Amino acid sequence: MQIESVDITDKSAIRSYHSVDRIISAKFGSDADNYHGYADIIRSMQLNCNFSDEKRVAEANLDLFVGGSDTVSTTIEWAFAELANNPKIMKKVQEEVRRIVGEKSMIEENDLNQMKYMKCVIKETLRLHPPGPFLIPRETANSVEIKGYHIPKKVTVYINSYAIHRDPKLWDNAEEFIPERFEGNQQVDYKVIDFQLIPFGFGRRGCPGISFGVASFEYMMANLLYWFDWKVPNNNNNNGALIDMSEFNGLSVTKKQPLYLEPMPYLIC
Ligand code: HEM
Repeated sequence: MQIESVDITDKSAIRSYHSVDRIISAKFGSDADNYHGYADIIRSMQLNCNFSDEKRVAEANLDLFVGGSDTVSTTIEWAFAELANNPKIMKKVQEEVRRIVGEKSMIEENDLNQMKYMKCVIKETLRLHPPGPFLIPRETANSVEIKGYHIPKKVTVYINSYAIHRDPKLWDNAEEFIPERFEGNQQVDYKVIDFQLIPFGFGRRGCPGISFGVASFEYMMANLLYWFDWKVPNNNNNNGALIDMSEFNGLSVTKKQPLYLEPMPYLIC
């Protein structure tokens, strides 16, 4: 399809869409029509929905890539930074993962369901380091009174999940990394509407990629924890702390200093 004048966002959207298309074609060649996965969904959107314009499909594609890649990789990086700073927690979560997986050569979905402590580690990571700390701005439909504050109709409301997640009125030792706080407290969860913990936002603007996001980082975390032991390099110099936890504010809040850890393969005896 011919693409006429487009703005920068459209251009990058279309570039990303074509890259995905190229990768799929290179991998599956003439079998691409039988491929069942991401490209299938995109193609069926074009064919079956009112979505035939390539530009719109490309934008949806970009949404998925922007929303889905940085958030997941940032969460993994923060999780390993916290674990490297807390070797006892690292040991406890690795013991759980290795006990459940045993000597299998692949981690299965059913294994992940049993990794209760690893899920607490992930929740605690997302509590302290929500990748998108300011949710998408909302506009009030009507005026409302909340705790003595009058909020007029049609104002833009910003929700700071970072502040809520570290509020000492809601959390004991709010600044500390303590996955155990969720152990006996499974009802505090980001998958239900619990305004104490909202790393994926909530309501109609809530993250549509939550299931894919959770499945992706649970699977990656379990594999990284299972197959490797992780060592902080000797030459780091962070004034006593093992890992520098400074933040960099961009589209998502990432580590200011990239995380360097030495992986040592875990040998199954
Ligand atoms: C660690 C993983 C992720 C986190 C923490 C996260 C977090 C968020 C947050 C906080 C929002 C704003 C929600 C609101 O304002 O209520 C959001 C929106 C969004 N997320 Fe995610 N996300 C993650 C993974 C993903 C993945 C894997 C995808 C897609 C493949 C995705 C796609 C999107 C999209 C398209 C929006 C915009 C929704 C809209 O415009 O209403 N996210 N995400």
